[in-house]
Amino acid sequence: MIERDDDIALAVIGGTGLYKLAALEDVQTIEGGTIYGMPSGPLRVGRFAGRRLAFLARHGEGHSVPPHRINYRANLQRLKDLGVRRVLAINAVGGITEAYGPRVVACPDQIIDYTWGRISTICEEPGTEVLHVDFGDPYTESLRRDLLAAAQRSRVAMVAGGCYGATQGPRLETKAEIARMRRDGCDLVGMTGMPEAGLAREMGLNYACLAIVANWAAGCGDAAEITLEEVLANVEAATASLPGLLDALLRGA
Ligand code: HPA
Repeated sequence: MIERDDDIALAVIGGTGLYKLAALEDVQTIEGGTIYGMPSGPLRVGRFAGRRLAFLARHGEGHSVPPHRINYRANLQRLKDLGVRRVLAINAVGGITEAYGPRVVACPDQIIDYTWGRISTICEEPGTEVLHVDFGDPYTESLRRDLLAAAQRSRVAMVAGGCYGATQGPRLETKAEIARMRRDGCDLVGMTGMPEAGLAREMGLNYACLAIVANWAAGCGDAAEITLEEVLANVEAATASLPGLLDALLRGA
């Protein structure tokens, strides 16, 4: 059992459709909880591109935890306890504006949080220090820059920027909700971007999002309805470029 591993170059949190990293070698499984309870599942720590990498499936490896039930604090704390400092969050999303069609891979730079009733801070327990962390730029700019540079080196087309609107789920949105989000300035919609990004900031973790567009959001495309088959097929197609991208990210950083 590894207590702490200061050599871990990066942790990847996999979202819908990404429950393991097949290219991870010499994988060790790390179980165990945190002061905030249990994470969604075990950490898988192994070698990738000559570096140490940790992987966690956000919804559990069998996708058994819905977005509003994820223990976001435990997931991030488990990574932090292990010694992780940089987290790449992979999120399947719906596309709202023109540049963000199905199978597009994007690195958003802003967030609007529409979620409710989730524990969204580590300043919850009595006696803990109240933090008012700066969150004007919700993602770590240096990690975003590294990711965009890695995309260029590995020839993965990636849209730089965009606003991620985080919704409560687990149902998808109405057309009117998406129309409002578009007016608000959202380019993407997903259910797991918050409170994860805010908690990462409170915990002092470097954190960036790799958004994979799985479908046009409600009312944005021609499809009569959004199906799970469509979502999973598009995520699978878009994640084919992930090993090359991660390789470039780990070798470049
Ligand atoms: N809405 C919210 N979350 C999502 C979507 C969507 O259309 N697609 C994938 N995750």
